[in-house]
Amino acid sequence: MWQRIVETKVSVYSFNELSESQQLLVEKAKMQLENAYAPYSGFQVGAAVELANSVVFAGNNQENSAYPSGLCAERVALFYANAQYPQIRVKAIAIAAFTNGAFLKSPVTPCGSCRQVMLESETRFDSDIEVILYGTDEIFVIQNVKQLLPLCFEKSSLNK
Ligand code: THU
Repeated sequence: MWQRIVETKVSVYSFNELSESQQLLVEKAKMQLENAYAPYSGFQVGAAVELANSVVFAGNNQENSAYPSGLCAERVALFYANAQYPQIRVKAIAIAAFTNGAFLKSPVTPCGSCRQVMLESETRFDSDIEVILYGTDEIFVIQNVKQLLPLCFEKSSLNK
């Protein structure tokens, strides 16, 4: 038996240390969560997706009384972006969350289903998507989605 350690590299930033384009994307995610429909969880999430043509699509979580019918902010934004520009790769995604009257102190981290959907966008265009996770105390920047979903099931797993 041997053990393999799977590591994820996370760069931790303060807001001022981000580049101008990263700051803008975070601001768009923060703004967008104001339009979230989250009456059941009270947990509002915003996501902003930047495409290679510099167009930004933002989305937020959309809940439903039949809980599983709702959708997370990341998937709302990403599906929207991919639906509008199916030929343009995604460059970056920023995510922010707000609950109990405040933004989260520690960065919000995407759920497993969103990571899988983000991975599809990354492999679809064979190009890294930078992931920016906002918290008021610190911001995580992760170079690509693969880092967030090691040992993943992806296109190549199907051998197609
Ligand atoms: N949620 C997101 O939109 N994105 C995440 O990364 C985590 C969770 C939503 C789903 C649900 O509407 C609420 O937050 C509570 O789970």
